[in-house]
Amino acid sequence: MPGDQTMNSIKSVLDDTSLTGTTVTVAGWVRTFRNDRFIALNDGSTILNLQCVIDQEQVDAATRARFTTSAAVKCTGELVASQGSGQRVEMKVTSVEVLGDSDATKYPIQPKKHSLEFLRENAHLRFRTNTYSAIFRMRHQVSFGIHEYFDHEGYNYFHSPIITASDAEGAGEMFRVSVLDPKTPPLNDAGDVNFKEDFFGAESRLTVSGQLQAELAALALGKVYTFGPTFRAENSNTTRHLAEFWMIEPEAAFMDLKGDMDLAEGLCKHLIARVLKNSMDDLVFLDARLKEEEATKPQAQRSEMGLIERLQFVLANPFERITYDDAINILLRSKPYQKKQFQFPVEWGIDLQSEHERYLVEKHFKKPVIVTGYPAKIKAFYMRTNAPGDFGYSEKGKTVAAMDVLFPGIGEIIGGSQREERLDVLEARMKEMNVPADELDWYLDTRRFGTVPHAGFGLGLERFVLFVTGMGNIRDVIPFPRTPGSAEF
Ligand code: 4AD
Ligand code: MG
Repeated sequence: MPGDQTMNSIKSVLDDTSLTGTTVTVAGWVRTFRNDRFIALNDGSTILNLQCVIDQEQVDAATRARFTTSAAVKCTGELVASQGSGQRVEMKVTSVEVLGDSDATKYPIQPKKHSLEFLRENAHLRFRTNTYSAIFRMRHQVSFGIHEYFDHEGYNYFHSPIITASDAEGAGEMFRVSVLDPKTPPLNDAGDVNFKEDFFGAESRLTVSGQLQAELAALALGKVYTFGPTFRAENSNTTRHLAEFWMIEPEAAFMDLKGDMDLAEGLCKHLIARVLKNSMDDLVFLDARLKEEEATKPQAQRSEMGLIERLQFVLANPFERITYDDAINILLRSKPYQKKQFQFPVEWGIDLQSEHERYLVEKHFKKPVIVTGYPAKIKAFYMRTNAPGDFGYSEKGKTVAAMDVLFPGIGEIIGGSQREERLDVLEARMKEMNVPADELDWYLDTRRFGTVPHAGFGLGLERFVLFVTGMGNIRDVIPFPRTPGSAEF
């Protein structure tokens, strides 16, 4: 029980050698019960199970019949050196109590390999499997590591709002928040819905980014970061998009694009180092899972490195930093381009598609790549316009001080930029891109009063968790995925 000082976590029982030979109590859920004698017990503190050996003289048959998969039991006994291989210690059970039965004829998740699709349909129970418990322990490690990194770097955790009236990315992919009756909404003189009568007195939506608010804070506190849920009504049913995802957005005054790239690379490496240190048992399991999955694929689609090896490699090597011009030139010279194997066209001005990003990362450089200096046309209004001499400036057309971090197997994992701090340039660009300046007057005040160069980025938490767990579908790394057509549980 929480607060039960006499109970040990299975992790501590397995790790702490001083407990061997003593009597301890553990509680968890039965994974398997073999030979009417051996309970493999898991309490979620580690992917490893504790083998609890039942003395048949002491535990009657009726009780033994209740040790079904996922039944909750509490065992007390002596920890002894294990006879079997695979574990250091096991428990010689002296007393056992069933805390919660699990009817074996009804429990959907049996001790066998289920498909990820099946487990996604049973998402409320999937945390009880090795794969998902490992993923969600690692998601915790990554989340905690994010706070640890920014706190260490002097950043303040800043809570940007979830409900907002502004479209930070200018992409118009927002969910409306309203209390108006959809059947009989109040109308204005023009016959449109009158949002003045709505809860907030104006049309309101769920945020697509906390960046604009983070900029206000950065120009006062110096360094801030947000970390919260983000919502996008983009109808892309891919393995890398969610309608509700978590984003981390640092923003720092007096930082330029180079500082932004250094911060992004530093964050990624800190998080990788942290999971290699704290999540090794989970990583060993997920590494083996990935190898098994890849063995079913054709040779050409298999990755050259295993999961742990890949994490160590990314940690040990500097990210490649190239301009958008470089990227386009590399793609134009590439085999898949020459053999017409890319689905999307390649020419200066395009937004890089996932197939292009993955070619650069997986085939050409074979490591994470940071691309800077994208065409202004395809990027958000707040990015700083490049001039001759700026990193990422191009003769081919107007570019901005954007940077995208591309990762193997995923593509874009981070999007960021140095911000346009010059009021006149920013206003001209907003006009050009039809961004309503009157609605963002509060934002423009930062450029009117004490404006300074500043920069930031957004990291998609789930995309990063995909990378460190080696999973292939973003729906598997968020507890309850929200995607087009699905908001179950
Ligand atoms: O590149 P994005 O759209 O950048 C921004 O929102 C900026 N305001 C960030 C900033 O500069 N402060 O999104 C940032 C990251 C992407 O690189 C991606 O990892 C993730 O957020 N992301 C998504 N993740 C899951 N599902 C989606 N629909 C996502 N859209 C973006
Ligand atoms: Mg982006």
